[in-house]
Amino acid sequence: MSADALKKAVAEAALAHVPRGEILGVGTGSTVNHFIRGLATISEEIPGAVSSSEASTALLKDAGIRVLSLNEVSEIAVYVDGADEANHHLELIKGGGAALTREKIVAAASRTFVCIADESKLVKALGRFPLPVEVIPMARSYVARQLVKLGGTPVYREGVTTDNGNVILDVRDLTINEPMKLEQAINNIPGVVTNGLFAMRPADVLLLGTSDGVKTLKAH
Ligand code: A5P
Repeated sequence: MSADALKKAVAEAALAHVPRGEILGVGTGSTVNHFIRGLATISEEIPGAVSSSEASTALLKDAGIRVLSLNEVSEIAVYVDGADEANHHLELIKGGGAALTREKIVAAASRTFVCIADESKLVKALGRFPLPVEVIPMARSYVARQLVKLGGTPVYREGVTTDNGNVILDVRDLTINEPMKLEQAINNIPGVVTNGLFAMRPADVLLLGTSDGVKTLKAH
């Protein structure tokens, strides 16, 4: 099965995790795009969704789902989003699509985070995928130097501006033994908006699309 077929299968399986009649959080990326297409079939049962990007907002509206701002809702029942990497603790690297900051906010505001991914995303240790860091533009060079001090090799993602008007540094060569500590250390650098480690708020459930079907993983 192709990676895209696995993404579609896992996205369809995620529909069973959507509580009817409650506000939903929706992530960003090619796996989530399949999920949003699936949501169109149950749009009348979804009172509204909080979106993590302009791209997902446009797709949600096309699917007939009302898009709400986070400030309009007190709580999100379930957040469904993809990942670039996941480990067995359901800690993630995200941000390959540059939507990491809004994704992290919506994940934090959600009771349950259901991550959907194809099997290529599951790793023993995070860090093969370069860690995206969203940075205020004026701080780009300063932040890059601090990331080098942490052992990383930052690369400016040319031509990309986030939905928040910022830039992305993709950091290679990091040793990520303690994801939570590294998440906090990078977030403490002045000029960093956030980084793509989701360890302080990992996923609660990982639905993994495999050639043997969709598997459900819980943190351990
Ligand atoms: C968006 O910024 C990312 O966090 C995505 O969730 C991640 O890149 C997964 O993307 P795919 O579903 O396209 O693999």
